[in-house]
Amino acid sequence: MSVLLAPSILAADFSRLADEIRRVEQAGADLIHVDVMDGHFVPALTFGPLVVAALKRSTSVPLDVHLMITSPERQLDVVADAGASRISVHLEATPHLHRLIAAIKARGIKAGAAINPSTPIAALTDIIEDLDHVLVMSVNPGLTGQAFIPHALKKVADARALITSRGAHADVQVDGGVDVTNAGALVEAGATILVAGAAIFHAPDAAAAVQALRRAAAR
Ligand code: DX5
Ligand code: ZN
Repeated sequence: MSVLLAPSILAADFSRLADEIRRVEQAGADLIHVDVMDGHFVPALTFGPLVVAALKRSTSVPLDVHLMITSPERQLDVVADAGASRISVHLEATPHLHRLIAAIKARGIKAGAAINPSTPIAALTDIIEDLDHVLVMSVNPGLTGQAFIPHALKKVADARALITSRGAHADVQVDGGVDVTNAGALVEAGATILVAGAAIFHAPDAAAAVQALRRAAAR
Protein backbone atom coordinates (compact mmCIF):
# COMPACT_ATOMS: atom_id res chain seq x y z
CA MET A 1 0.00 0.00 0.00
CA SER A 2 1.38 3.43 -0.84
CA VAL A 3 1.94 5.86 1.99
CA LEU A 4 0.44 9.35 2.02
CA LEU A 5 2.34 12.28 3.54
CA ALA A 6 0.34 14.98 5.28
CA PRO A 7 2.28 18.06 6.40
CA SER A 8 0.61 19.59 9.46
CA ILE A 9 0.15 23.34 9.16
CA LEU A 10 0.29 23.63 12.94
CA ALA A 11 4.04 23.90 12.39
CA ALA A 12 3.70 26.53 9.65
CA ASP A 13 4.20 30.29 9.95
CA PHE A 14 0.61 31.41 10.60
CA SER A 15 1.34 34.94 9.34
CA ARG A 16 1.97 33.50 5.86
CA LEU A 17 -0.37 30.53 5.63
CA ALA A 18 -1.05 30.68 1.88
CA ASP A 19 2.71 30.79 1.13
CA GLU A 20 3.35 27.96 3.57
CA ILE A 21 0.67 25.81 1.94
CA ARG A 22 2.18 26.52 -1.48
CA ARG A 23 5.59 25.51 -0.14
CA VAL A 24 4.42 22.05 0.91
CA GLU A 25 2.18 21.68 -2.12
CA GLN A 26 5.24 22.16 -4.33
CA ALA A 27 7.18 19.82 -2.06
CA GLY A 28 4.75 17.04 -2.97
CA ALA A 29 2.31 16.86 -0.06
CA ASP A 30 -0.48 14.32 -0.59
CA LEU A 31 -2.76 15.92 2.00
CA ILE A 32 -2.63 19.06 4.14
CA HIS A 33 -3.26 18.22 7.79
CA VAL A 34 -5.28 20.96 9.49
CA ASP A 35 -5.41 21.01 13.30
CA VAL A 36 -8.55 22.65 14.70
CA MET A 37 -8.22 23.16 18.49
CA ASP A 38 -10.70 24.76 20.85
CA GLY A 39 -8.78 25.53 24.05
CA HIS A 40 -11.07 23.07 25.82
CA PHE A 41 -10.52 19.54 24.53
CA VAL A 42 -6.86 20.55 24.29
CA PRO A 43 -5.28 23.55 26.01
CA ALA A 44 -4.31 25.27 22.77
CA LEU A 45 -6.56 27.30 20.50
CA THR A 46 -5.82 27.46 16.80
CA PHE A 47 -8.53 28.41 14.32
CA GLY A 48 -11.93 27.30 13.14
CA PRO A 49 -13.88 26.65 9.95
CA LEU A 50 -13.35 30.13 8.47
CA VAL A 51 -9.62 29.48 8.26
CA VAL A 52 -10.23 25.97 6.94
CA ALA A 53 -12.31 27.54 4.16
CA ALA A 54 -9.55 30.07 3.43
CA LEU A 55 -7.00 27.25 3.20
CA LYS A 56 -9.30 25.40 0.84
CA ARG A 57 -9.34 28.41 -1.46
CA SER A 58 -5.54 28.51 -1.55
CA THR A 59 -4.76 24.90 -2.46
CA SER A 60 -5.94 21.98 -4.53
CA VAL A 61 -4.35 19.48 -2.13
CA PRO A 62 -7.09 17.70 -0.12
CA LEU A 63 -7.56 18.98 3.44
CA ASP A 64 -7.27 16.44 6.23
CA VAL A 65 -8.99 18.13 9.17
CA HIS A 66 -8.17 16.93 12.68
CA LEU A 67 -10.79 18.18 15.12
CA MET A 68 -9.40 18.51 18.65
CA ILE A 69 -12.58 20.02 20.00
CA THR A 70 -15.28 19.16 22.49
CA SER A 71 -18.68 18.28 20.97
CA PRO A 72 -17.37 17.95 17.41
CA GLU A 73 -20.91 17.24 16.18
CA ARG A 74 -21.71 20.94 16.64
CA GLN A 75 -19.06 21.96 14.10
CA LEU A 76 -19.48 19.17 11.57
CA ASP A 77 -21.60 21.03 9.03
CA VAL A 78 -19.45 24.16 8.96
CA VAL A 79 -16.22 22.16 8.69
CA ALA A 80 -17.73 20.06 5.91
CA ASP A 81 -18.92 23.20 4.12
CA ALA A 82 -15.40 24.64 4.49
CA GLY A 83 -14.14 21.95 2.15
CA ALA A 84 -12.61 19.16 4.24
CA SER A 85 -11.81 15.97 2.32
CA ARG A 86 -11.18 13.97 5.47
CA ILE A 87 -12.28 14.66 9.04
CA SER A 88 -10.96 13.01 12.18
CA VAL A 89 -12.86 13.29 15.45
CA HIS A 90 -11.55 12.20 18.81
CA LEU A 91 -13.19 9.19 20.38
CA GLU A 92 -12.63 10.94 23.73
CA ALA A 93 -14.55 14.04 22.61
CA THR A 94 -17.96 12.56 21.83
CA PRO A 95 -20.28 9.98 23.40
CA HIS A 96 -21.80 9.37 19.94
CA LEU A 97 -18.89 8.42 17.73
CA HIS A 98 -20.94 6.04 15.59
CA ARG A 99 -23.53 8.69 14.76
CA LEU A 100 -20.87 11.27 14.03
CA ILE A 101 -18.84 9.00 11.73
CA ALA A 102 -22.03 8.20 9.82
CA ALA A 103 -22.84 11.92 9.53
CA ILE A 104 -19.37 12.72 8.18
CA LYS A 105 -19.60 9.95 5.59
CA ALA A 106 -23.09 11.08 4.59
CA ARG A 107 -21.48 14.37 3.55
CA GLY A 108 -19.18 12.43 1.19
CA ILE A 109 -16.15 13.04 3.43
CA LYS A 110 -13.74 10.37 4.63
CA ALA A 111 -14.26 9.81 8.35
CA GLY A 112 -11.73 8.82 10.96
CA ALA A 113 -11.51 8.26 14.70
CA ALA A 114 -8.56 9.81 16.48
CA ILE A 115 -7.32 8.35 19.74
CA ASN A 116 -5.12 9.86 22.43
CA PRO A 117 -2.00 8.05 23.66
CA SER A 118 -3.83 6.60 26.68
CA THR A 119 -6.80 5.23 24.72
CA PRO A 120 -6.40 1.59 23.64
CA ILE A 121 -7.07 0.50 20.07
CA ALA A 122 -9.57 -1.99 21.53
CA ALA A 123 -11.91 0.97 22.11
CA LEU A 124 -12.43 1.00 18.32
CA THR A 125 -13.41 -2.67 18.07
CA ASP A 126 -17.10 -2.04 17.46
CA ILE A 127 -16.65 0.74 14.94
CA ILE A 128 -13.62 -0.29 12.93
CA GLU A 129 -15.62 -1.43 9.91
CA ASP A 130 -17.23 2.01 9.64
CA LEU A 131 -13.99 4.00 9.66
CA ASP A 132 -12.08 5.29 6.66
CA HIS A 133 -9.09 5.82 8.91
CA VAL A 134 -7.81 5.46 12.45
CA LEU A 135 -5.70 8.38 13.67
CA VAL A 136 -3.20 7.14 16.23
CA MET A 137 -1.88 10.09 18.24
CA SER A 138 1.80 9.57 18.95
CA VAL A 139 1.97 12.68 21.16
CA ASN A 140 -0.57 14.20 23.51
CA PRO A 141 -2.53 16.47 21.18
CA GLY A 142 -2.08 20.22 21.28
CA LEU A 143 1.41 21.17 20.17
CA THR A 144 3.84 20.73 17.33
CA GLY A 145 7.42 19.65 17.93
CA GLN A 146 6.80 17.14 20.74
CA ALA A 147 8.75 13.90 21.05
CA PHE A 148 7.23 10.75 19.54
CA ILE A 149 5.82 8.39 22.20
CA PRO A 150 7.40 4.99 21.36
CA HIS A 151 4.35 3.00 22.51
CA ALA A 152 2.48 4.43 19.51
CA LEU A 153 4.35 1.95 17.32
CA LYS A 154 2.61 -0.94 19.06
CA LYS A 155 -0.73 0.86 18.73
CA VAL A 156 -0.24 1.18 14.98
CA ALA A 157 0.39 -2.56 14.82
CA ASP A 158 -2.68 -3.18 17.02
CA ALA A 159 -4.80 -0.99 14.75
CA ARG A 160 -3.57 -2.79 11.63
CA ALA A 161 -4.23 -6.18 13.26
CA LEU A 162 -7.78 -5.16 14.21
CA ILE A 163 -8.47 -3.89 10.68
CA THR A 164 -7.11 -7.07 9.11
CA SER A 165 -8.95 -9.37 11.53
CA ARG A 166 -12.27 -7.72 10.59
CA GLY A 167 -11.58 -7.60 6.87
CA ALA A 168 -11.93 -3.82 7.15
CA HIS A 169 -10.17 -1.29 4.93
CA ALA A 170 -9.26 1.68 7.10
CA ASP A 171 -6.06 3.63 6.70
CA VAL A 172 -3.87 3.96 9.76
CA GLN A 173 -2.70 7.51 10.24
CA VAL A 174 -0.02 8.54 12.73
CA ASP A 175 0.26 12.07 14.10
CA GLY A 176 2.90 13.54 16.37
CA GLY A 177 6.67 13.51 16.35
CA VAL A 178 6.84 11.65 13.04
CA ASP A 179 10.24 12.04 11.35
CA VAL A 180 12.83 10.08 9.39
CA THR A 181 13.87 8.13 12.49
CA ASN A 182 10.47 6.47 12.99
CA ALA A 183 8.67 6.67 9.60
CA GLY A 184 10.03 3.34 8.37
CA ALA A 185 9.04 1.44 11.48
CA LEU A 186 5.58 3.04 11.48
CA VAL A 187 4.93 1.96 7.90
CA GLU A 188 6.25 -1.50 8.62
CA ALA A 189 3.82 -1.69 11.55
CA GLY A 190 0.93 -0.81 9.24
CA ALA A 191 0.71 2.98 8.96
CA THR A 192 -0.50 4.29 5.58
CA ILE A 193 -0.75 8.04 6.31
CA LEU A 194 2.04 9.95 8.04
CA VAL A 195 1.36 13.40 9.47
CA ALA A 196 4.45 15.53 9.97
CA GLY A 197 4.58 19.10 11.24
CA ALA A 198 8.01 20.13 12.46
CA ALA A 199 9.82 17.55 10.32
CA ILE A 200 8.59 19.31 7.18
CA PHE A 201 7.78 22.93 8.04
CA HIS A 202 10.79 23.51 10.28
CA ALA A 203 13.19 21.98 7.76
CA PRO A 204 15.17 24.48 5.67
CA ASP A 205 14.04 22.72 2.48
CA ALA A 206 10.49 21.31 2.65
CA ALA A 207 10.86 19.38 -0.62
CA ALA A 208 14.02 17.67 0.65
CA ALA A 209 12.24 16.88 3.93
CA VAL A 210 9.30 15.32 2.09
CA GLN A 211 11.66 13.23 -0.05
CA ALA A 212 13.61 12.12 3.03
CA LEU A 213 10.38 11.06 4.74
CA ARG A 214 9.28 9.15 1.65
CA ARG A 215 12.64 7.35 1.51
CA ALA A 216 12.45 6.53 5.21
CA ALA A 217 8.85 5.32 4.84
CA ALA A 218 9.84 3.02 1.97
CA ARG A 219 12.84 1.47 3.67
C1 DX5 B 1 -0.63 17.74 17.58
C2 DX5 B 1 -1.23 17.84 16.21
C3 DX5 B 1 -0.29 17.42 15.18
C4 DX5 B 1 0.98 18.22 15.15
C5 DX5 B 1 2.06 17.37 14.63
O1 DX5 B 1 -1.59 17.92 18.51
O2 DX5 B 1 -2.39 17.06 16.09
O3 DX5 B 1 -0.90 17.37 13.91
O4 DX5 B 1 0.88 19.36 14.36
O5 DX5 B 1 3.22 18.13 14.65
P1 DX5 B 1 4.64 17.43 14.80
O6 DX5 B 1 4.83 16.55 13.61
O7 DX5 B 1 5.58 18.60 14.84
O8 DX5 B 1 4.62 16.64 16.09
ZN1 ZN C 1 -3.11 16.62 14.06
